[in-house]
Order: sequence, then C-alpha cells, then structure tokens
Amino acid sequence: MSQETQQDCQPQHIAIIMDGNGRWAKKRFLPRFVGHQKGLKSVKRLVAHCSSLGIKALTLFAFSTENWRRPPDEVNKLMGLFLKALQKEVSKLNENNVRLIIVGDRSGFNDEIQEHIAIAESMTRDNTGLVLSIAANYGGRWDIVEAVKKWQLAHPERSISELNEQALSPYIALSELPEVDLLIRTGGEQRISNFLIWQMAYAEFYFTEDLWPDFDEKSLDKAIASFTQRERRFGKTSEQVAK
Ligand code: IPE
Ligand code: IPE
Ligand code: MG
Repeated sequence: MSQETQQDCQPQHIAIIMDGNGRWAKKRFLPRFVGHQKGLKSVKRLVAHCSSLGIKALTLFAFSTENWRRPPDEVNKLMGLFLKALQKEVSKLNENNVRLIIVGDRSGFNDEIQEHIAIAESMTRDNTGLVLSIAANYGGRWDIVEAVKKWQLAHPERSISELNEQALSPYIALSELPEVDLLIRTGGEQRISNFLIWQMAYAEFYFTEDLWPDFDEKSLDKAIASFTQRERRFGKTSEQVAK
C-alpha cells in the first residue's frame, strides 16, 4: 500500500507519550506514585485493545533521559514499578503473542532490571502479534547520536561525508518497524519532550487533555478516528494525493 492512501486505514504504528499521572493523583490528594500505578493499568488496557484492533506496533514513552531529574524518591519508585511490570506482566504478554522491545539506554538501569529486560525480550522474540516497544531511559537525541556511532563502528572504512539518511536509518531505534503514523500525547501538553524525533518526522499528532490513567479504549478509538480523517501529503499537493 502506498503511503498516500494510508490515511484511509488505521495506523500501523502508534506512539504514545503517557503524560498526566502525577496530576491525576494530585487531583485526588494522592501521592504521585499512585498515578503511576494507575498508569500501568492503562498500559495493560491499551495493549490489549491495540492487539485486538490488529495494530502492528505500539510504542510507549515510559521514562525519558530527562526524567532522572525528578526527585530521587519518585525515580526509585518508577524503577521499582518498571521492574515489577517486567517480572509480572511479561508472561501474559507472551501468551498474547506480543513481542516486547525495550528501547533506550539500558546501561542506566541497575543489573536486576537489565537482566529482566533481556529475559523479557528473548522470551517474546518470536511472537508475531503486536510489537510493544517501551521507551525507557530514552531520548530522541540520544537515539540519533547512537545511530551515528553504530554506523561508524559498522563501516570503519567509510568517511562521514558518505553518511546520509538512508545509510543512517537502519541504526535508528525501531528501524525494523513502520515509521510512526500517529503520535498521541495525553495530559494536555503539546510537545515532543525528546521522544522519537527521527521516527515521527511525518507522524500525525493528536493531543488530548485526558490524563493518562483516564485514557481508555474509547479514547484510543477517538484518536484513531481523528487519524483516519487526516490527509497525509508527504510533501505532495492535495491534488496529487487525490489521484
Ligand atoms: C508521565 O506522567 C509519566 C512519567 C513521566 C514517568 P507525569 O509523572 O509526567 O505526570 P504529570 O505530568 O506530572 O501530571
Ligand atoms: C515525558 O513526560 C516523558 C514520559 C511520558 C515518560 P514528562 O512529563 O516528563 O515531559 P515534560 O518534561 O513535562 O515535557
Ligand atoms: Mg508530565
């Protein structure tokens, strides 16, 4: 299928900036961490929903390279929640034929988390259903710099002047997946926050005031419905696309 006709169909790759957990908790006079726990419930709901819709890839922003700047207590609790999710949820994902990928600089995590990341990825490697990527200690700028380093390592004989978009793109995270079609950000902010810069170059953006713990199946259906109304032109004119 050509890219131009894709707006008639559902997105193949959805990326979500899951924002608003802290505000969700604050509104209820609860500690921020309770918002993150609730947020994990939304993740489980939405993964199941994407699987049932036949979406090919779902990429979720769980922890940015900048989130280390949060108070140490919140960072520790988020790490604990990440570990618990890896320990408790992966076998269920596996049963549901979901392939799990963790994208980001994993050297920032402790040994136990790194070990469970490796187990989760190898357990689900051959699954053919939804590809669920969790961006953790991920930054779009980090991703691009890493790609350049990997390209250089793979081609020590080549000069940097030979580097171009086509040569670099296989080294960018998630290059094996279709590019992001639809980016959703919950929580009302309208920014990228250093998420998948390269991969979202031509994504359609959808911003909602819904806080992540409140985002449910219907909310996703609404975002997808908005996507299907868009005309994706990829640089061409509307008349060219219509042909
Ligand atoms: C997003 O929710 C989750 C993470 C960044 C880990 P926030 O924690 O940013 O929630 P708000 O923006 O403070 O409401
Ligand atoms: C972005 O959310 C990262 C994640 C959702 C994991 P933040 O809430 O940290 O983003 P900023 O810093 O407010 O832009
Ligand atoms: Mg936030």
